Amino acid sequence: MRVLLGVETSCDDTSVAIVSEDAHVLANVVSSQIEEHAPYQGVVPELASRAHLQNITPVFRRALAGAGLRLEDMSGIAVTRGPGLIGSLMVGINFAKALAYGSKLPLYGVNHIRGHVAALFLEFGEIPLPALTLIVSGGHTHLFHVNTERRLTLLTKSRDDAAGEAFDKLSKMLGLGFPGGALIDRLAAEGNPTAFPFSKPKFGDGSHDYSFSGYKSAAGRHIERDPRGFVSPDGQAVKDLCASYQRALVEHLVDRVRLAVAKEGPRALLLSGGVACNSGLGRAWRDLGEQCGLPVFITSPKLSTDNAAMIAAEAWRLAELGVTAGFDLEPDIREKPYDGVRLL
Ligand code: KG4
Ligand code: ZN
Repeated sequence: MRVLLGVETSCDDTSVAIVSEDAHVLANVVSSQIEEHAPYQGVVPELASRAHLQNITPVFRRALAGAGLRLEDMSGIAVTRGPGLIGSLMVGINFAKALAYGSKLPLYGVNHIRGHVAALFLEFGEIPLPALTLIVSGGHTHLFHVNTERRLTLLTKSRDDAAGEAFDKLSKMLGLGFPGGALIDRLAAEGNPTAFPFSKPKFGDGSHDYSFSGYKSAAGRHIERDPRGFVSPDGQAVKDLCASYQRALVEHLVDRVRLAVAKEGPRALLLSGGVACNSGLGRAWRDLGEQCGLPVFITSPKLSTDNAAMIAAEAWRLAELGVTAGFDLEPDIREKPYDGVRLL
């Protein structure tokens, strides 16, 4: 059995995983830095790089021990090369280079967003293609067309905040905590999703970009109108605002996909990234699949949020294509994950 070791340190999770050629996850250790960043209500890049430095070796050892394997058993080393935070990426890349150099193994530089797409194939194996894939996380909101060779064409993305960032920003405004998505999801379950109005973004140029910053501003105005109603984090106004906000964000996410289904004629609808854990989005995704008569695939939480298994999985695709990296591999904080662009 051939296995690849994956390293992911692009943001605030330190992760090392081991994935076999036939898509078995033998280890997927993720060390979260939520405690370090929570006091600041967001990821502090300097703290993130320092935490990666402290965590990477123990996480690597735990991954090997968990799989009962040694470095010599690997067929290659995969690492996220971007996009992400420069200091965080550098820790993973230098660690991976050292491993590859010391053990004379091939090195693979993986795009993080492509990793999120690979997580779907890792979890579900055969997926009918072409498909539409929505990657929604704290840093990205990208809708792709995936062709039968798994080449990605970007259909649209956010022109400002990412969807997860929008959840995190409302959570910050309400003083709920960080990261905010899961907290808002939980409160939304007890709120009225029609209590607060939100209007959809419209652009003068007729573009179908995603845009989330207007939702955050509108939520801020709802809070300003009745500041006392929002003092208690488990008050009804907070629950109603969370429910209305979540519904508005989900509708905006799904609207663009509905349009893309009509234009692209996909055979499946794929969803991944941290925000794929959102219960409202999951429901809307399944409903959309039913309405369009298409199968839906949503990664499970462990493979939705940042993890190194998805990085190793994407590296298996690179290995098949014979694309290895040299020791001059550099982080690329804005690396594009797609082969082409076809705007909605
Ligand atoms: O994929 P991920 O772990 O990291 C990035 O690449 O950004 O995603 C983290 C994001 C955070 O913004 C978090 O608030 C969001 O995913 N998230 C959720 C939920 N669980 C995590 N957003 C909405 N609902 C959730 N249940
Ligand atoms: Zn991510």
